[in-house]
Amino acid sequence: MTDSTNSPGDSTAFDSAHFRTVLGHFPTGVTVVTGMAAGDRPHGFTIGSFTSVSLDPPLVGFLPQVDSDTWALMAEAGSFCVNVLSDKQSDLCWKFAKSGTETTRFDGVKWHQAPSGSPVIDRAVAWIDCSVEDVHTMGDHYFVLGRVTALDADADHDGLPPQPLVFYRGTIGGFSAEG
Ligand SMILES: Cc1cc2nc3c(=O)[nH]c(=O)nc-3n(C[C@H](O)[C@H](O)[C@H](O)COP(=O)(O)O)c2cc1C
Repeated sequence: MTDSTNSPGDSTAFDSAHFRTVLGHFPTGVTVVTGMAAGDRPHGFTIGSFTSVSLDPPLVGFLPQVDSDTWALMAEAGSFCVNVLSDKQSDLCWKFAKSGTETTRFDGVKWHQAPSGSPVIDRAVAWIDCSVEDVHTMGDHYFVLGRVTALDADADHDGLPPQPLVFYRGTIGGFSAEG
């Protein structure tokens, strides 16, 4: 049996694999956070750590790895757009998570520009356009705080309510409402 306990001050009583496994029991939505490099090159990566932060002022955040190539390309623009994927977009979840493909991820993907210029992916459940307010280093990730500048949801999904993609224990699936 794996020892899942930890003593105060002892940060090595569990390994990173166990940390990931346990934290993977917290389900998240799946987003593709997008931005532009050099003004006209679209970039994006799959992000589950998106969170709402504040209503007034309107702030959201997400956590990219400090060694993310995509964040390095996007950071200079000073803005980003969060695209909440639908359950019909599982292919995009994996496509935008593959390392070493930064320049080809948008191949075959339909998108248009948010007011900031960042890509809005067609048929996403919702999009949230932001300017970068602050970036903090937190361990091996950054926390990127964004001020929301424009947003929308419920694009047409063939007359049906849009359904989000859900990530849980390393797999993705749909959401089913109770009752
Ligand atoms: C469902 C899912 C959620 C993810 N969430 C995050 C996240 O919150 N932060 C992060 O840094 N990487 C996350 N990733 C991994 C990144 O998508 C991946 O490391 C990145 O696209 C690699 O390319 P890059 O080096 O160009 O950033 C997630 C991957 C998946 C499949």
